[in-house]
Amino acid sequence: MNIIDVIDKKRKGDELSKDELDFAFNGYLNKDILDYQMSSLLMAICINGMTDQEVFDLTDIFIKSGEVLDLSIIPGVKVDKHSTGGVGDKTTLIVAPIVASLGIKIPKMSGRGLGLTGGTIDKLESIPGFRVEVTKDQFMKELNDIGMIVCSQTDNLVPLDKVIYSLRDVTGTVESIPLIAVSIMSKKIASGADKILIDIKCGDGALIKDDRSAKELRDLMIRIGNVYNKEVRCIISDMDTPLGACVGNALEVAEAVELLDGKVRNNLYDLCVDIASNMVSMGKEISIVDAREEVIDAINNKSALAKFNQFVAYQGGNLEEMRISDNKLEIKSTKKGVITAIDALIVSKVSNALGSGRTSIDDVIDYEVGVFLNKQVGDSIDVGETLCTLYYNKVSDNFNITDAFKIEEK
Ligand code: URA
Repeated sequence: MNIIDVIDKKRKGDELSKDELDFAFNGYLNKDILDYQMSSLLMAICINGMTDQEVFDLTDIFIKSGEVLDLSIIPGVKVDKHSTGGVGDKTTLIVAPIVASLGIKIPKMSGRGLGLTGGTIDKLESIPGFRVEVTKDQFMKELNDIGMIVCSQTDNLVPLDKVIYSLRDVTGTVESIPLIAVSIMSKKIASGADKILIDIKCGDGALIKDDRSAKELRDLMIRIGNVYNKEVRCIISDMDTPLGACVGNALEVAEAVELLDGKVRNNLYDLCVDIASNMVSMGKEISIVDAREEVIDAINNKSALAKFNQFVAYQGGNLEEMRISDNKLEIKSTKKGVITAIDALIVSKVSNALGSGRTSIDDVIDYEVGVFLNKQVGDSIDVGETLCTLYYNKVSDNFNITDAFKIEEK
């Protein structure tokens, strides 16, 4: 087989066989196929798409490139979740303890953030002492002992995704529905859960910008799930506005704790209740309405907060020692009116400039910094009132963060 013929075939829009996909992708993993050849094939896929058969074959090739976890020795239903990444997205920190407190097992492997949205693992690392790397035995033990675990993804899990994702990131080939579906579903299936909830972020601050693409991705991931006999549900959620009031690692952990303590009622609360209700509905095979009642109870009676504290302590974390910077800059409004939009992209750029994110995988994160939104969409604001507060440790460009707030004068 010849890689040029494979690229040529895809460039013409023809369907590749599983052997051809295997030759190209595993060849790339083994370094027989070169970066520029794989880049060219990925771009042809981006432009011409993939048939369902190609997507199913490629998902299988991805899964089999590494280890597949077998969780069947652990009793109970295991439900996993994934988000396609959003600004201020700390939903895992909230949803996992809610669902685990209701008796459903949550085996969750997460990633670090790259680009404008932070990863769950970075957020957890802002808690002093918290161990994100665990062995397979520790993973199984924690899942069995307390019903949940959130840790970083092992190197053995879908190694093909790691190398292909890094290449997509630098070749303008991230925004391909079939490639996104293969990337997400291969990792979720290899992680071994019985059922999977995927939160597809849609909007200016997200990878998927429009509703049509979000629905296409949703339907494709459900079809992949069917092939593996896994129930998959997807939520399509807005990502024009940051999720919750906090963007930045320790700030987001603090907001998660506040929410579990019943003190937060905003767009983050609504989305977490929605995600958790779907997970509980799948896990217990009950209606969404009944599941929602259980989820809200778990927040109100603090059992979800107790599960969160148990989980943090199990992985060595000490929340008392978590720090948020003492240096604060309050950004005041120069307008009076009602806030009709808060641009997630601008807020994430400011937070990143303060040091909360990475632009390259080797960048060191400052866990203590970020942005607190004093006002939310729908709130009234007066001249001189605080729009948001920047927590910083170094002087940086604040990109005119007031531009993030759209204020309609009354
Ligand atoms: N998240 C993933 O894990 N993979 C993608 O390709 C896009 C979002």
